[in-house]
Amino acid sequence: MCGIVGYIGNRQACPVLVKGLHRLEYRGYDSAGVALINEKGELNVYKTRGKVQDLENYMESKDVSGTIGIAHTRWATHGEPNNVNAHPHCSNSENLAMIHNGIIENYAVLREMLSRKGYTFKSSTDTEVLVQFIDYIRTTNKLSLPQAVQQALSQVVGAYAIAVIEKNNPNQIVAARKGSPLVIGVGEDEYFLASDATPIVEYTQKVVYVGEEEVVVINRGEELTVRTIANVEKTPEVKTIELSLSELEKGGYPHFMLKEIFEQPRTLANSMKGRVSLDKKHVVLSGFTNNKEKFLGARRIIILACGTSWHAGLIGKYMLEEFARIPVEVEYASEFRYRKPVIYPDDVVVAISQSGETADTLAAVELAKSNGAFIFGICNVVGASIPRNTDSGCYTHVGPEIGVASTKAFTAQVTVLTLLALCIAKEKKTIEEEAYLEIISELAEIPRKMEMILKNNDEIATLSRVFTYAQNFIYLGRGYNYPVALEGALKLKEISYIHAEGYPAAEMKHGPIALITSEMPVVVIATHAGMYEKVISNIQEIKARKGRVISIVTKGDKTVKKMSDFCIEIPETVECLVPLLASVPLQLLAYHIAVQKCCDVDQPRNLAKSVTVE
Ligand code: M6R
Repeated sequence: MCGIVGYIGNRQACPVLVKGLHRLEYRGYDSAGVALINEKGELNVYKTRGKVQDLENYMESKDVSGTIGIAHTRWATHGEPNNVNAHPHCSNSENLAMIHNGIIENYAVLREMLSRKGYTFKSSTDTEVLVQFIDYIRTTNKLSLPQAVQQALSQVVGAYAIAVIEKNNPNQIVAARKGSPLVIGVGEDEYFLASDATPIVEYTQKVVYVGEEEVVVINRGEELTVRTIANVEKTPEVKTIELSLSELEKGGYPHFMLKEIFEQPRTLANSMKGRVSLDKKHVVLSGFTNNKEKFLGARRIIILACGTSWHAGLIGKYMLEEFARIPVEVEYASEFRYRKPVIYPDDVVVAISQSGETADTLAAVELAKSNGAFIFGICNVVGASIPRNTDSGCYTHVGPEIGVASTKAFTAQVTVLTLLALCIAKEKKTIEEEAYLEIISELAEIPRKMEMILKNNDEIATLSRVFTYAQNFIYLGRGYNYPVALEGALKLKEISYIHAEGYPAAEMKHGPIALITSEMPVVVIATHAGMYEKVISNIQEIKARKGRVISIVTKGDKTVKKMSDFCIEIPETVECLVPLLASVPLQLLAYHIAVQKCCDVDQPRNLAKSVTVE
């Protein structure tokens, strides 16, 4: 939620900042702004409601000179998205400008105190309160800017990644973080700062991940200095990132989402690389091997995640219970963190998160950790907060996922969960050798089978035209295909704004069947593997009530095809791997319906890629 960028060096800052904002736009896109200090020391702040492109248009005739600046793209928390609430925010003195990602929880108390001292506020944001508070502490106690930031933050409750600059001081940016991500790019005589490495990578591969409660002082031409809020000096650790520019571009596709759907055969192979042996006879996960005893001694496994990652977790539960015979609970991290859950020291917690920054998942991990559970993370973004807070884990290695709707990260999460289930099951001897080998050799076939499904893209695009004006959708599946139904429904609603619900197919008759009319499209995942006969009965119940059935069937199926209004075939595979294949046509269906409806597929309304606030 919200993207922040900063630059200090020899280049003109504005183009660097604007390009950076474009890269971070997936994090929030309701308003954007820039603050620059020009040669005369003047502080120029430009901000507007809308996207980064609107900001660029707005700045066309403005003075955007200066080699230092900060910029922000917003996902509104406090106050509606408008010009006034857009960042950067300034102090009343107009000396300080600040950008912020996160939430200041005690902002109301601070605002009241500052109002009593004569401060006035233009916006409804918590950020304006914080910058005024820094200004207040700076002027009252006659402190330097870094000292004032430190002192102010020691009195702040909440989460933040901030960057502050000061009029007449074109040589310094002060940045800090707690709970929200912040990366500093280290170039030749220049520094970059950003919410993630994507705006930095085209200038330098060297980065410093700012730690929790650290304040970084970035002085032009000098080494970085880092101190904690409590004033403990830290040595910044420079790391090298592996991220190529081409991974951040659309590569000829009209949308990142479509590119990411089509990348799946390759990304899936990447998730398995070095983990599934070339002779296809065994699986190795170092995160498991190094902590074998934790998994073997686990009383139960608790999976913590949100959204699409939660759906992957549900598939993981089915596999872990079927193969490893360990009871698994799949929890919404947002519920878990507040409901006083029972956590045993011999619980293993598996935290799943594409971004590795989801606030609820991070907080749930911290809760489980403080209760002594062993934490295993499955994340995509290397070096993000969740992987840094786990005891062990493994990355999904799918490269940056930029479309807000998660696609390739989901299939990779399911793949890694499959590998984990196989590792534990093999070690516990709870899986037959034949089944173990069959799943491994089928896993190796999945990328090729996905390619086959992707060849149906045009056909699915044609089918999508029939449903452009549908108001509601139901998605049904049983067993492993039930989470696929949930995920298919989520994809459709988040990018096409069509109301969609996923259900276990057999639950229909307990209520949702009342919704079925000839107006109701029902997507049924009815593959051979996965309670085929039972699902056929469910389809009959829908047809008897004139529902329109779009089925996902195994290649060559005749029975379900005959009963369906529309049918999409996928290649045959073992039951636990069907989700990897069945989710691809559902991603494409949602994508094409959204495109037909002229929706902003990559940046759907009200959403943001990483939810770093609760
Ligand atoms: O980064 P995470 O995997 O922790 O994100 C969790 C959810 O916010 C995310 O999956 C969300 O539901 C996606 N927009 C779904 O496409």
